[in-house]
Formats: sequence, C-alpha cells, structure tokens
Amino acid sequence: MTLPHRVKIVEVGPRDGLQNEVTAIDTATKVEFINQLSATGLSVIEATSMVNPKWVPQLADAEAVFSQIKRHAGVSYPVLIPNLQGLERAIAVGADHVAVFTAASETFNQKNINCSIDESLQRFEPVMALAKANNIQVRGYISCVLGCPYEGKINPEKVANVATRLHTLGCAEISLGDTIGVGTPLQAQDILRRVSKHVPMHELAVHFHDTRGQALANIYACLQLGIATIDTSVAGLGGCPYANGATGNVATEDVIYMLHGMGIETGVDLAALIKAGHFICEKLGRPINSKLGRIGLPS
Ligand code: HMG
Ligand code: MG
Repeated sequence: MTLPHRVKIVEVGPRDGLQNEVTAIDTATKVEFINQLSATGLSVIEATSMVNPKWVPQLADAEAVFSQIKRHAGVSYPVLIPNLQGLERAIAVGADHVAVFTAASETFNQKNINCSIDESLQRFEPVMALAKANNIQVRGYISCVLGCPYEGKINPEKVANVATRLHTLGCAEISLGDTIGVGTPLQAQDILRRVSKHVPMHELAVHFHDTRGQALANIYACLQLGIATIDTSVAGLGGCPYANGATGNVATEDVIYMLHGMGIETGVDLAALIKAGHFICEKLGRPINSKLGRIGLPS
C-alpha cells in the first residue's frame, strides 16, 4: 500500500455546491465565500459554471462572480463549461482553467447536457482547440462512473473508454464522478484500476457525492491505489440538479481531517476552512453537512 505524501484538494463548493441550493445567494456573498476559501491554502477552487442560465439559474451571475473575486497567486479558479459558448464566456472574463463535463451514461448525459456522449465529445473538439490557443488548461469530468440514476449499473469499460477519449482530446486531468453516491470501496478501486490502465494515476481525480455515507471509505480505498487529487465541497454542499436523489459532495473538512490525521499534506488551514463553511451555511440558512464542520477541531 503506497499512500501519497501530499494530496491536491479541488474545492468544488462554489460551483457543485451552490448550483444545487434552493436558496438564492447574491453575487457579493459568492464572492466573499470564494475569497474566504482562497485564504485557506486551497490551490484549486472551482469558482462557477458558464452553462445555459435557464438550466442552472443559481449560477447565472457567473461573469460577475468571476470578475469580482480576488484571485490569489498560486490558486487556480476553474470554470465549468459545457460547450464553446461556455469557453468563450470564460475567456472573456480571463479564466485560465476550465472543466468540460460528460458522462458514462447516455441517459444522464441527455438529461444533463441534452446530447449523447459521442456528441458531447465532438463538441469538445473545438473547445480544446480554442483552449489550447488561449493557453487554458482543461479538466474533464465523467459523471455516473459507479451508477446512474436512470440506467442503474454502468459498465466500467464504458468509463475507461470515455476517460481515454477525454485524455486523447487533451484534458490535463480527468475527474471520475460518483454523481449519485452509490459506489462502495472495492467498486471505487475497480474503476480506478481500469481507468488508470489508460490514463496515468497522477492525471486522475475522484469526485464522490456522499449520498449513502460511502465517500470517505471510497476515498481511502482510492488513496491506497495512489490517487492524489480529490474533489470535495466545503460543508458538504452540492449535488447535480439533473441527477435525482444526488446529495452533497463529500465535505472538504472531513477529507482534510482524515488526510492530515494520516500524515498526508494538503496545505489547507482546516480551522479557516471550517469558518468558510459556517459563513456560507449561515447565508444559505442550512446546517453544515459535516460533523467536523459542526463541532470543530478537537482541542
Ligand atoms: P441546449 O438547449 O441543447 O443548447 O442545452 P443549445 O446549444 O441548443 O442552445 C440553447 C440556448 O442555450 C441558446 O439560447 C444558447 O445561447 C444557450 P437561446 O437562443 O435559447 O436564448 N446556451 C448557453 N447560454 C449560456 N452559456 C452557455 C450556453 N450554451 C448554450 N454555455 C446545454 C445544452 C449544455 C447548454 C444545457 O444543457 C446546459 O446548460 N446544461 C448544464 C447542466 C449543468 O450545469 N449541470 C450541472 C453540472 S454537471 C455536474 O454537476 C456533475 C459534476 O459535478 C460531476 C459529477 O458529480 O458527476 C461535474
Ligand atoms: Mg458533482
């Protein structure tokens, strides 16, 4: 068993978190939230998405948010985009990291981005070309890697195939999403083993929603195989509006507590992160979805 010495946390709370909240959050609060996160030592904060605002009205103020945040040196602020129009919007506000997204399930992809998997990958071709011309790094997400809300079980070879195609297109990092939080540790290891035959482990990330309380165990299982990039969301915010029953991402606080306790560095100040979680949950009027976030660090 070889555990990594350091893990890169990709904080997705401002995007995956806020896209699924019913309470409307004003632009100034989103900006303050991201600014607080920027001061915690996180190196990647997914700031927003530039999708059709009719599909995700919660993030309709993406340009305003991105333009108003204080961008820290050494921190990247990817923007989630579904197509060329999204990339053009991201370029217009000076983003230098974006993320495209597709799925291993045809039905989920249709519901989420209104096209087939093949069509989505075709759409990404001009996106990758324009990104390259503008020196923009692109991450690729694959949803439903361990199960789909519409199709149920997903063939792991399909996941490996989509990952290989995203990698061939030029995605610098590929994030494997358990969108509805159905996977368990040995399944998580199986998918990671299969995908890492085609995409190097250091270019892979895991993205667990914690619907059934399996996320920490799944992450630990993946760490044992050498995964060193983990997507998390402060206060356990999140979910996909187009995946029935999907609840929040695994809470950043819980993952970092576990990692630090195992001697794995993240560079994140956990106390400052817990404060940012309290800040956003007070604004949302909802409880913190992390026991550690609620009770705080042991004295
Ligand atoms: P469509 O209706 O097929 O798009 O939607 P279209 O190309 O036919 O265009 C229709 C309208 O959308 C046009 O406007 C376009 O301008 C506009 P109209 O002429 O009707 O006024 N449009 C846009 N507007 C702003 N920005 C854009 C854009 N693109 C088109 N980028 C589309 C296709 C992909 C746009 C739509 O389905 C969409 O926006 N979907 C987003 C869904 C979404 O954001 N889901 C959540 C994120 S994914 C996720 O959470 C999973 C993840 O966390 C990993 C995991 O957990 O598994 C990443
Ligand atoms: Mg997600």
